[in-house]
Amino acid sequence: MATDVLFVCLGNICRSPAAEAIALRLKEEFPAVGRIDSAGIGNWHVGDPPDPRMIRAASGFGLDLTPLRGRQVERSDFDEFDLIVGMDSENVADLKDLRPVHARAQVVPMSRWTGRDVPDPYTGGPEGFDRVLAMLFAGVRAMFEELSAPAEGEGKRR
Ligand code: 4NP
Repeated sequence: MATDVLFVCLGNICRSPAAEAIALRLKEEFPAVGRIDSAGIGNWHVGDPPDPRMIRAASGFGLDLTPLRGRQVERSDFDEFDLIVGMDSENVADLKDLRPVHARAQVVPMSRWTGRDVPDPYTGGPEGFDRVLAMLFAGVRAMFEELSAPAEGEGKRR
C-alpha cells in the first residue's frame, strides 16, 4: 500500500505548500508514495494562496505554487493520512496534542530527513525562502527513498 503524506507548518502559506509541491513533483519517481497534501496548525490563512515571496522563490526551482490554498489541520486528517510531517518541533508538539489516540497517522518531524527543523521564513529576508526550498528538496527525496526501501525481512530468501 502506498503511503499517504500530509505536510504541516504553522500558517500553510510558506513551508508546507512548498513541501507539497516538491513532493508532488518527486512522487512520480516513487510508487510507494500515495496521496500528498499540506495544512496549517493555525487558521489565519485558510483559503489564501501561498505567500507571494514563497511563490516567487519556488518558481525559481520550476515549481508552480499558485493553485494551492491554505487550510487548517482537521481531526479527520489523522485517519486519512499515514504520515503527518511537522516542519519544526513546535508543529510536531501541536500535532501530537491534536492526534486522537487510535489514529491511523503517525506524527513525525521533518528533521528526521533534513537533520534539523525547517526554519519559519515568514519574518525573515528573501534568502530564507530559498534555504527552505533547498532543505525540502533534499529532505523530501530522503523521505521518499526511505518509504521505498524494502521493510526489514522483506525480499529475503532462505
Ligand atoms: P509557514 O509560515 O508556517 O511556513 O506557512 C508562516 C506563515 C504565516 C504565519 C506564521 C508562519 N502567521 O503568523 O500568519
